[in-house]
Amino acid sequence: MNENTEGLITRYRSFLRDEQVVTDREGMAHYCYDATEMRFMPDVVVLPSTTEEVSRIMKLAYEAGVPLTPQGGRTGLSGGALPVAAGVLLSLMRMNRTIEIDEKNMQVVVEPGVVAADLQETLKSHNLFFPPDPSSTIESTLGGNVAENAGYTRAVKYGVTRDYIIGLEAVLPNGDVIEVGGRTAKNVTGYDLVALIVGSEGTLAVVTKIIAKLLPKPAFRRTCIFYLDDLVAAADLVVSIFAGGIVPSAIEFMDNTSINCVADYLSASADLRRDAAVMVLVEVDGNHRTGVDEDVSRVFDLAQKSGGVVESKLAGNDEEAERLWRIRRETLPALKSLGKDHLEADVVVPRYRLPYLARSIKESGEGKKVNIATYGHAGDGNLHVTIQYRKRNFAETAEAHELLGEIYRKTIEMKGKLTGEHGVGLTAKDYMSIQMSPVEIGLMKRIKAAFDPKGLLNPGKIFPGDGAGTTA
Ligand code: LAC
Ligand code: ZN
Repeated sequence: MNENTEGLITRYRSFLRDEQVVTDREGMAHYCYDATEMRFMPDVVVLPSTTEEVSRIMKLAYEAGVPLTPQGGRTGLSGGALPVAAGVLLSLMRMNRTIEIDEKNMQVVVEPGVVAADLQETLKSHNLFFPPDPSSTIESTLGGNVAENAGYTRAVKYGVTRDYIIGLEAVLPNGDVIEVGGRTAKNVTGYDLVALIVGSEGTLAVVTKIIAKLLPKPAFRRTCIFYLDDLVAAADLVVSIFAGGIVPSAIEFMDNTSINCVADYLSASADLRRDAAVMVLVEVDGNHRTGVDEDVSRVFDLAQKSGGVVESKLAGNDEEAERLWRIRRETLPALKSLGKDHLEADVVVPRYRLPYLARSIKESGEGKKVNIATYGHAGDGNLHVTIQYRKRNFAETAEAHELLGEIYRKTIEMKGKLTGEHGVGLTAKDYMSIQMSPVEIGLMKRIKAAFDPKGLLNPGKIFPGDGAGTTA
């Protein structure tokens, strides 16, 4: 720790309570990792509870030239909230108030530390709905969802986080507080700074207040799953559902490796079809029971016609639907439970290319020691790939990284993008130049510099070649 940081901590203690400034290793250990399981130790963790505190903390760090990394619920899968350059770790978890539920305008105003799943629960009693629902884990926060422009399962029908954020209060690296966007449904006054900050992975500003628009909660929802013997047949089914005039609220898929892994993880309760090449989960929602039921029976007709279906199930009630959803939701935890080291990719291609990418990734893995599982959001062409290997085995480590590079190259060849929802963070930054030209990367760097001329806010993320410190 350098002198500047020590002086900074003394200043923090002068206006924050004891429990808001953490410097002991044990206390800081809680904040040094995320869902990637990489670890970076900061020099100090601060836990502000107001915008004024955030502003003061940031201003002082900026003046002292100390790096600062904002952080939410630590469920990120790209390392975006890890303090790679040490310095100040700014946890927003104490700013967790729901400030206002405006039923008349169908909007909600929340602080960044509000847990997405809790907001969803709160809104239910108002018959309202915030569609971007990354409640894959119970800890994921709205601030993190805004930083990453999170998507998850309902994006196929309802869009991603950015589509619902209409206003933000945010603190710039030098401590200035800005309010961009606001309470109106429309706003084309100047550049869209809300859209720019959403998805900027905490590298431009720290969001302290979020205004989101809401929808009425759909009254009916039905869930079904199909097991198929072929990936391309599954993609044909997905395509035929859209062509049939149905936009489901989710279309998810899991490959055979993922199915078996979840079957082991959930044991007997799951009752999964282990021999299927792929499972497709379809959810349809709407406000009229008969309309939803008609859509579901049409999906079953299409499944019968499209071929390749070896088994299907329709949830009869909410409890059964939850059981089906659990299979998909537990995929990542199940894959992680195998205890191996893993690399994750979150690539996205035009919808119909997904099975070809998944198949080609499988082929690349054939004859190799590493294990590959693919699953994801079939309706969005968003493919999650988990490569499992053993870090201590040099050959496997080399193989795993080679495969990851190959996956990214194939994705770009198929007119895809490096990441669909997890963000660039640390995990994809060295591959940025496969997707973006030097001119485009240069432009993004100049935008970053306009917000953060000293390059102190969440350093080491997104841009290729930026130093990333050492793991703790
Ligand atoms: C999922 C997370 C990993 O789709 O994005 O399960
Ligand atoms: Zn996902």
